[in-house]
Amino acid sequence: MKKLGENAGFWANLPQPFYALAPMEDVTDAAFRRVVARRGKPDVIFGEFVSADGLSSERGLPNLMRLLYFDESERPVVAQIFGEKPENMHRAARICREIGFDGVDINMGCPVKKVVRTGCGSALIETPELAKEIIQAVKEGAHPLPVSVKTRIGYREIVLEEWLGHLLEAEPIAVTLHLRTRKEMSNVPAHWEVMPAAVRQAKGTGTLIIGNGDIRDLVHADQLIAENGMDGAMLGRAIYGNAWLFDRSITPDQITVHDRLQLLTEHSLTYENIFGPKKNFVIMRKHLLAHTTGFFGSRELRHRLESVTSAAEVVDAIEWFRTEFDHVHHFSSQQKSAAALSSNRAGD
Ligand SMILES: Cc1cc2nc3c(=O)[nH]c(=O)nc-3n(C[C@H](O)[C@H](O)[C@H](O)COP(=O)(O)O)c2cc1C
Repeated sequence: MKKLGENAGFWANLPQPFYALAPMEDVTDAAFRRVVARRGKPDVIFGEFVSADGLSSERGLPNLMRLLYFDESERPVVAQIFGEKPENMHRAARICREIGFDGVDINMGCPVKKVVRTGCGSALIETPELAKEIIQAVKEGAHPLPVSVKTRIGYREIVLEEWLGHLLEAEPIAVTLHLRTRKEMSNVPAHWEVMPAAVRQAKGTGTLIIGNGDIRDLVHADQLIAENGMDGAMLGRAIYGNAWLFDRSITPDQITVHDRLQLLTEHSLTYENIFGPKKNFVIMRKHLLAHTTGFFGSRELRHRLESVTSAAEVVDAIEWFRTEFDHVHHFSSQQKSAAALSSNRAGD
């Protein structure tokens, strides 16, 4: 294991290499993270980004708290904050520490217009002195929690060596490189060709390098780690429709229809239990549809799930599916053994 800087916290105890679940707004919320952690536990989990300005305002704080829920089963779990005012970033980091997160990550990669317009997210690549000041402020607010950065490899063009040089001066415990520029959004393949140089540049520093962009699964992650030498891999969109992504013992074709239906119910109920009326159930639909592909009758089930507005309606849709398609999937006989199998997998 690389010799890490001060206040390494949980990062010092991670396996080498390690596999992280990426932060994704309205995707990796507390409910989804919990159902993922019960199936195949990522070595480290990142929460969705939260506005430091919002957390610093009396009106914003109560609304944003739902973004900072997490469950013990997710640990180590890292809160991600964004902002461009060092004092608010300091305050937000302190709140994350007080809530009990294991680490704080700074978003310096978001390409969205409304974020970069205010100088946050990937816009910080263009203001490296401010970026370093922010890292320092977050370190002080989060103390003694470890502070990491997630970023891109440039704003308009690739400036990785210069940008990473600035970041390393501020000594974050880890830097996740989403291997695209801001301008490229997600429209081109990730530039894995620049990763070996970044790994060399960080060698001998106390900062871990995590690679991110287009990783399909853990086998693909292993291949990229072997080729490029980074300390860890972060997977994002590959989790869509595959909550078992971080379980090496199971391949997607081994996930039964019963497993998928059980996931739909569990995810919907967890979502409603955690968020209640604070988060619209409509946001769940994309998960429900992603979980429901590739089996006989999935099209009909998807059609019903497209309009659900509550967990009860999801349960009804599944009940309907079981009745309609029992002759194909034999739920009544399969149920017992599949339930035993999936509860073993979840480590219950
Ligand atoms: C819907 C969505 C929401 C995202 N939200 C965040 C976020 O809140 N914070 C962040 O740092 N990156 C965010 N990202 C970027 C991902 O963390 C990741 O860097 C990107 O998807 C590339 O990795 P992948 O190819 O494994 O998906 C988001 C991406 C998507 C698709």
